[in-house]
This record gives sequence, C-alpha cells and structure tokens, in this order.
Amino acid sequence: MRIVSEQQPRPRVHFTPRQGWINDPNGLIYLTGQYHLFAQHYPHDTSWGAMHWLHATSDDLIHWHEQPIALYPNERGMKFSGSSVLDRGNRSGLSTDGRDPLILVYTNHGQQEEQAIAWSTDGLAFTEWEKNPIIPNPGLHDFRDPKVFQMPGSGHWHLVLTAGQQLFFYQSADLLHWHQTGTFVPDGQPSGSEGKNWVLECPDCFAVPAPDGRVVWVLLLSHMVLDEPRKTEILYWLGEFDGLTFRPFPSSSGPFLFDPGPDHYAPVTFAGLPEPLTLGWGSNWAYKDTLPCQTYCGQMTLARRLALIKTKNGLRLTQEPVLPTGLLPAKPDVMPGQLDVTIEFYGSFSCRLFNASGESFVISLDDNQYWQIDRSHGASQPFWPSGLPDWYEVIRSPRLADGPSQMRLVYDQTSIEIFADQGLLACHLLVMPGKAFDQLEMAGAARVQH
Ligand code: FRU
Repeated sequence: MRIVSEQQPRPRVHFTPRQGWINDPNGLIYLTGQYHLFAQHYPHDTSWGAMHWLHATSDDLIHWHEQPIALYPNERGMKFSGSSVLDRGNRSGLSTDGRDPLILVYTNHGQQEEQAIAWSTDGLAFTEWEKNPIIPNPGLHDFRDPKVFQMPGSGHWHLVLTAGQQLFFYQSADLLHWHQTGTFVPDGQPSGSEGKNWVLECPDCFAVPAPDGRVVWVLLLSHMVLDEPRKTEILYWLGEFDGLTFRPFPSSSGPFLFDPGPDHYAPVTFAGLPEPLTLGWGSNWAYKDTLPCQTYCGQMTLARRLALIKTKNGLRLTQEPVLPTGLLPAKPDVMPGQLDVTIEFYGSFSCRLFNASGESFVISLDDNQYWQIDRSHGASQPFWPSGLPDWYEVIRSPRLADGPSQMRLVYDQTSIEIFADQGLLACHLLVMPGKAFDQLEMAGAARVQH
C-alpha cells in the first residue's frame, strides 16, 4: 500500500490507466486498423499486486479506450508479461467460428514461471488454453516474458524469453508446440553494478532496415540490478537472426543504451506492422512505492518509430515519437503542464523549463558534446526514495551526432520526453513540480523553431 497519495494532473498524450497500477506494456499489436495495448495491471490498488492484463485500443496511439481486462490471475498464477500474435489461417486450430484467433502469449507466475496462451476471436474476450503450459519451466527461477516474432519467409513463429542469465529462442509451426532453437548470453552490466545480482526481463528481437538496404536484427532487453544501488537499463545489440538464434555482429554490435533516462523500461515492438514501433513503461521500479498516486499509478512512454542510421561510431537506432505536432501547445504558458517545442541548435546550449516556485528541468549540450539532463529540481518533493545514486537526478549521455541539429521536447504534465539528433537521443523522465512549469528559457547557440 502506498503512503503518499496526491494525484498529479493526468498526461494528455501518454497512456495512463483509468485506475490502479500499470507496468510493462504487453501484447502490442496492430490489427485491422487498431492498435492494441495490453499491460501489466493491478486494478485494485495503485501499487503492484496480483498481475492482470489491462487492455486498451487506439486509432492513433494517442487516444486510448480501455477495454475489459483481458487476463486475470488464477490458480496457475499471476499473468506476467508477454506478447500477442494474430494466428492467420488458424494454424493453432483454436478458433471454431471461422475467424483468425488473436493469441496472447504470457507467463504464468505461480509456483514457478511457465509460458501459456489465451485466445480470442473478437479481440475482447480471451480464453486460456486448457492444455497450458506451452513451454514448461526447465528448472529456472526466472523464466518469463515471451515475445513472439516472425522472420520474413520462415513460415514459423519464433519466440524469445528470459531464462535466468540467458535468453532462450524457440520455434513453432502452430503456436501450441514449441522447441528450443538457440540461446543468447548477454554481456555487459550497468556500469558500477558489476558482480551484483541482476535480472533480465522483457526481450524482443526484430528486423530494422539499415541505410545501405541490408536488414539488421536488433535484440532489445531490459535488465535490473536487484542489489543496491538499484539500476534499470534497456540495452540493445545489432546483429543477425538466422532463424535459430540471434548473433551479434563481430564488432561494434553493442550493447548500446536504448534510452539513458531513468523512466523507461520494458519497451517492446508492436506485432502486425512493417516497421518497428515500440512503447515502454514510463516509470522505474526504484520508486514504485514512493510516486505520488491516488487513483492510478504509472504511464507509458510515447510510441516511438525506430530506424537505423550511421553515426561516427557506427550504426545506431534512432527513435522518433508518434505525436503529430500541434496537439500540445508550442508555448509553455498557453496550457501550463503541456508543451511540444522544437529547438534548433548550432553548438552548446541549454534549455530550462521552470515555474515561479523555482522548480525546473534543464537539458543542455556542453562543449564536450555531452547531453546533460537535470531534473534534480523537477519535483516539489523527491518522488524517489533517498539514497538513490545521482543518475536518477542528472543524466549524462555522450552525443552521437555532430553539427547543427534539432531537439524536440514534449512536456506532458508528469513527464518530459526528449528526442534530439534525429532521435539518436531519446529520453523519458518523470517530473512532478508542485506547480506546472510555465516558462522556457534558452541560453547558448539555440533558438526555438517557429
Ligand atoms: C518487468 C517485469 C517482468 C514481469 C513483470 C511483472 O518490469 O518484472 O519481467 O513479467 O514485470 O509485473
């Protein structure tokens, strides 16, 4: 049960649940003109609890309509994270009404973690398969977060999940029977946390076209250090998927940071789209009990379109928000708490959002080509527990681009999302000022684009 209970104004363009708790997005899929978002959800409290799957649909990834809860915890366990897939041609045989079933693939978190499915032909009411599990537990404490994906031309479904300190890959022809085809052992832990107890979560594997026309595969993985200081990160590797497993390129393949901000976790791609589009949980486990919440707790990031570009250090992912300009005002004092502004910069600069009480959020690019994002004065009271390391307040990230460029800053009541250098920097952070920021101040080689 949480102690602090003061509800902040609701974001406008970031998804929040009607009530209760949310964490990871699950089962993201684009189906017959609609985006479906499922999510880890506890409807009875603003704290994490017995996990359900929330379900919401949208035409534009901005305006969401909550649907009936898709999955409930039961005797097989809580419904932990997973994915969804449209079973074209009903290869599972689960549908009996002639419509292709939408299949949710998730983890039952009970005595142990095992993979299971539920299906629906109306996209709203889901039935758990009576012969679950589809993948039993091989004797591992952490064995979860199945992400189903397809490889063009393969005719099979593939699945990646976390299995202790490794990722396991599986293949299936009918979504019911799976066999393991490979493993991937991630290297690299968050700096300063070497040797600590860490857990791998919410993997994804997807193809992205490279600028030279090649298809490059991305392995995306969230991970968390369980010991103090707690730290979560989203990493990605570049490489190839040969139908059996993911193989990073021999050099310069990662891991790279997907988002240097503290408030982004467990992003995964939508199924059913030709290009990769992700959505992530816009919060952090470190302050799951200290965020000010009353009716609901948790929000998602904006949906982000991914691409690859060549930088001075090699290929890197770029992320651009799916957010038409003009939805939020371009000036800070029109509707306090809401701002969507693009800044052109030519060299080092700083941009400060603030209010009359002295609360502020500052983003700057320094002479050494480092981004610095400072929200240490971004809350009326710190919503993070005491003792967290500095990186929760001030983020530093090396710039991957050169020369003049642009930065888009989206301020949406309780969070700020930054996209700079064509999306080479993409960062989501929560802010909770006592009074909305309503002033913007620029210094250095930059100006607001009009
Ligand atoms: C990641 C995670 C997943 C798990 C879910 C439980 O944030 O810990 O690994 O399936 O959340 O809610």
